[in-house]
Amino acid sequence: MFTKRTTYLALLAAALGGANAHLAAWHEGMYCLNGNTGNQDLNSYDIVTPLYQLPFRDWWCTATSSPPAAGKYIDLPAGGSFKIEIASNRAKTELSYGGRDTSEWPDGQSYPQDYHDAGCITSPNMHAQDQSRAAGTAFAISYHSDIKDVTPENLVVFSVRYNTPWKRIIYYDVPASLPSCPPDGCTCAWGWVPNGCGQPNMYHQAFKCRVSNAKSSVPVKVPAAAPKWCEGNESACVGGSKQMIYWNQKEGNNVVVDGRDRRGDFKSPGYNMGMGFRDGAQNDIFGGSPAPASSSTSSSGGSKPTSTQGAKVNNAPTSTAAGSTSTSSSSSSSPAETPKAFSEKAQRPQSCQRKRRRAAAERREMEAREEVRREEVKREEVKREEVKREEVKRAIGGHHAVHAKRSF
Ligand SMILES: *[C@@H]1O[C@H](CO)[C@@H](O)[C@H](O)[C@H]1NC(C)=O
Repeated sequence: MFTKRTTYLALLAAALGGANAHLAAWHEGMYCLNGNTGNQDLNSYDIVTPLYQLPFRDWWCTATSSPPAAGKYIDLPAGGSFKIEIASNRAKTELSYGGRDTSEWPDGQSYPQDYHDAGCITSPNMHAQDQSRAAGTAFAISYHSDIKDVTPENLVVFSVRYNTPWKRIIYYDVPASLPSCPPDGCTCAWGWVPNGCGQPNMYHQAFKCRVSNAKSSVPVKVPAAAPKWCEGNESACVGGSKQMIYWNQKEGNNVVVDGRDRRGDFKSPGYNMGMGFRDGAQNDIFGGSPAPASSSTSSSGGSKPTSTQGAKVNNAPTSTAAGSTSTSSSSSSSPAETPKAFSEKAQRPQSCQRKRRRAAAERREMEAREEVRREEVKREEVKREEVKREEVKRAIGGHHAVHAKRSF
C-alpha cells in the first residue's frame, strides 16, 4: 500500500514537473522567477501552470506580487530584437546552473529537427502536431511602472512570433518607433494561446521591461482594441493597437469564438493572422500626442541589439518577412484610457503563493480522487471474493447434496 502510494505520488510529481511539463517564458526580468519559495529557486516551475477558467485576479499577469530583482528588466531595443527562453522549468534555462541543463528545446532534451506527432507533441507540451501548427506567442507593453496600474486596455501587443513556442530560444522584434518608458520602466506581458492539442487554456505572464535607443515619442495608442477572429478575411481583422487575447477564463475574456476554423478544428484564437496579428514587430500601434519628455531610460545603452535576421533563422522558418503594413494610425485620438474594467479588488496582485495553493489544491483533489478510486477497486475485489466464496460454497453445498442424495 505504502509503496503503491509512493509510486503514485512519484508519477504525479513527474506528471506535474517532468516530461509533459507545460511551458513558460523566462527572463531575469520576469515576475515569479523563483516561484513561491521567497528564496532563490533554480528549479522553480510555478509559473508554467496554464490558466483556465479562473477569476480575473488569478489569471491576470500571473504572479504579480513576485517582482524581479531590483534593476532587472527586459531591454527592448527600438528597431532591434530581444531574447526570451521558453522552458518547462527554470533549470532548463540559462538562468540556472550556467545553462548546464539546457538544450535546443524547452525541456533540456533532444528531438529531431522535424519533430512531429500527428497525435500532438506532449513532451514538451507544445500543444502542436509540428512547428507549423504552433499557435504563436506575443509580447505586450504597458507604459506603467506599477503593475497595479496595468489594465487590459493599456497593455498593447507590440511583438508576435509565429510558430512558437517551439525551440527554447525566441527572439522577438521591437518596433523601431517604440517610445521610451517612465523612469521606473514599463510593464510587459507574454502571452500564448495554444491551438488545440489539450485543454484550451492560455498563458499570461508579467515582466519588467524598458525601451532602449528610443527615437520616437509618439505614444503607443490606448485604449487598445480587443482583437477579433478574422481568419481568411483580413478586412474583418482589427488593425492598429490591440489588446492581448483573453479567453476561456471565468471573467475578463475579450474574445469569444465558436464553430470551426478552415482546417475543421474548433476555433482557437491565437497570436497569428487568424486574429489579425502579423509576425514580428507591430508597427501600427502608435497614435496620439507625444508624452512630455520624461525618461531617463531611453538611452540606457545596456542592451545589445540582436540581429533580427538571426531571429528569423532561429525560430520562424515558416514565417515570411511580413512586416506590419503601416504606421497609419496617426489619428489625433487622445491617449486617455477607459476606466478599468475590473474592480481594484479584482486587480489585487496575485502571488506565486496563490498559484501554488491552487496547484496544491488540485493535487490534493487528484489524490483524493485516486484514493476514492482505489477504495472502489478494493470494494470490487472484496465483492468479487465474496461472490467467489458464495459460488464455491454453493458448489460444495451442491456437491454435498449430491453426495447426500447418493448416500441415501
Ligand atoms: C469580410 O469581412 C467584412 C467585414 O467584417 C465583411 O463585410 C465581409 O462580408 C467578409 N467577407 C467574407 C467573404 O466573409
